[in-house]
Amino acid sequence: MTEAGAVSIDVVSLSKRQIKKRKKEEQWRLKKDELRSTRKERLRERNAKRKAEGKATKGSTRKRLKRMETDQLPPTQRVAIDMRFDHLMNDKDIKNLIRQIERCYACNRRSKKPFHMLLTGLSGKSLERLEEGVEGYRNWKNVTFERRGYGEVFEKESVVYLAAESDNVLAELDSSKVYVIGGFVDHNHHKGLSFSQAVAAGFSHARLPISEHVKLNSRKVLTVNHVYEALAAFAETGDWRESFLLTIPHRKGVETHPSVHTDGHSTNTDIDSRVSDKAESNA
Ligand SMILES: C[S@@+](CC[C@H](N)C(=O)[O-])C[C@H]1O[C@@H](n2cnc3c(N)ncnc32)[C@H](O)[C@@H]1O
Repeated sequence: MTEAGAVSIDVVSLSKRQIKKRKKEEQWRLKKDELRSTRKERLRERNAKRKAEGKATKGSTRKRLKRMETDQLPPTQRVAIDMRFDHLMNDKDIKNLIRQIERCYACNRRSKKPFHMLLTGLSGKSLERLEEGVEGYRNWKNVTFERRGYGEVFEKESVVYLAAESDNVLAELDSSKVYVIGGFVDHNHHKGLSFSQAVAAGFSHARLPISEHVKLNSRKVLTVNHVYEALAAFAETGDWRESFLLTIPHRKGVETHPSVHTDGHSTNTDIDSRVSDKAESNA
C-alpha cells in the first residue's frame, strides 16, 4: 500500500479487467487482515473477562490448530486430487474447486490421522487460482503439489480411482494404495467422465460404500471435499456409517439405513464439531 487506503499494483501488461480483479483481491486481503485483528482483539477481551471470572481461557484458533497438529500421527495414507479438468470448468467452478480443496486441507489439519494429500496434474487456471486466492498454500503441511498427472506420479498397481459409477465397493483403506479423487466441479454436466477416463487408461477404481451404510435421497455423486472428509472420518473412526452421517450434508437427505439399528446420533463429538454442513452444493 502506498498511502492510506491506496492500493499499489503492478499495472504493466495487465488488461483493465485484470487490474480491477487484482485491486479487488488486494482490497479483500487488506479487509481480511483487518478482520483478523478485530477477531484477535475480541478474543483478548473475552479471555480477559473469563480470567477475571476465574474461568479457563480459550487459545486462538491458530494456536488450537497448532496444538492439534502436534498430536497428529505422521501420514501413512495417500489421497490424491486429480487436477486435470480445468478445460471443462469455468472460472466460477475453478474458484469453487479451490475452495473445496481448502476444505480438504482444513480437514487434514484437524485430523488425528492426516493423509498425505497430493494435487496432481496441477497447472493452468487452478494453479493461478491457488496463487492468487490462497495465501501461504505453498507452506501447507503434508501436501504435495505436482504438475505431472497421477498416472506419471504413481505406480499403476497402487492407484484406485474413486468414482460413484464404479461397481467395486471400497471397504477398507489400504496404505499401499493411493486413492484418487477427480478435482472436478461440473454440476453433473459430464456424468462419469473421470470414471471413464480412469477405466480407459486401465486404472483400478472403486466407489464409496454409501448405499451399504446410509440412505440418500439424492444422487450419490459427492463433492471433492465431501469425499475427502468421508475418507478422513473413516480413517479415524473405522466406521463408514458414522463417517457418512458426519460428512454428507443433510440437504442431500442422508439418513441411517433402515436395516441398521441405531439411534442415529454420532458419539464422536471430536469429529462432529468440525464437520461443516454448509459445504458446497456444487458436485
Ligand atoms: C463432483 S465429482 C465429479 C463428477 C464428474 N461428473 C465426473 O464424473 O468426474 C468429484 C469426484 O469425487 C469423487 N466421487 C464423488 N462421489 C463419489 C462416490 N460416491 N464414490 C467415489 N468417489 C466419488 C470422484 O472421484 C469424482 O471424480
